[in-house]
Amino acid sequence: MSKQRRPLIAGNWKMNGLVGSATPELQELVKRAGDHPDPKCDILICPPATLLYEMVSLAEGSAVKIGGQNCHANESGAHTGDISAEMLKDAGAEYCIVGHSERRADHGESNAVVKAKAEAALRAGLIAIVCVGETLVEREGDKTLDVISDQVRNSLPGGATASNTVIAYEPVWAIGTGKTPTPENVADVHAHIRKELGSMMGDSDSVRVLYGGSVKGSNAAELMAVENVDGALVGGASLKAVDFWPIVSTCI
Ligand code: PGA
Repeated sequence: MSKQRRPLIAGNWKMNGLVGSATPELQELVKRAGDHPDPKCDILICPPATLLYEMVSLAEGSAVKIGGQNCHANESGAHTGDISAEMLKDAGAEYCIVGHSERRADHGESNAVVKAKAEAALRAGLIAIVCVGETLVEREGDKTLDVISDQVRNSLPGGATASNTVIAYEPVWAIGTGKTPTPENVADVHAHIRKELGSMMGDSDSVRVLYGGSVKGSNAAELMAVENVDGALVGGASLKAVDFWPIVSTCI
């Protein structure tokens, strides 16, 4: 982890959680965060949209920030079932994940679509967390760095800066599988991402690049110690405060 970049530990609850089950988890997180009046990292939970309002009010005044998991590129209009970045902001979100591999795969989101959504997030005043990552076939075919270059170059919003954009490197084969790349592999990809950012942005050294994919309490310290890793995007292990907190603890 770098001194110049403030780490971000982000939880992605995906399609999990009802008011009854999510409330005590967020309350517990807020309570634990409250024991650290001067946290050295940012803490974020991205609940399903139905829980946004409730979670925002529970987290109010604490170090725990709330974000969305996806947004539509447009501000409003005839898009049944979709939610705009402005609506997320209105509900109290401060961040929005875009281009998660589950959205790229389940909803056919191309780099161009991801870029438009990231631009919508910036337009609404949200911080975009842009996800990139290779599949197992791509890794085994030695295509990882090419795929990452393509995604970084084509998914990043115009106007991206270190203060409004975060990158999350999530190898698709590591998500929800319990498998993680070696620290050397993570270091290679993160260094590659930072090099790509260098040719695209003026303040690229300050952009946070998170690692995601089967991060848990038992491997977080090792992963967070890798050069150019500025935090984590956590799925399964973010659902319970007792599992998420040890990951936050690596940098708080
Ligand atoms: P996981 O998910 O931690 O359950 O592997 C990570 C993610 O999809 O962001």
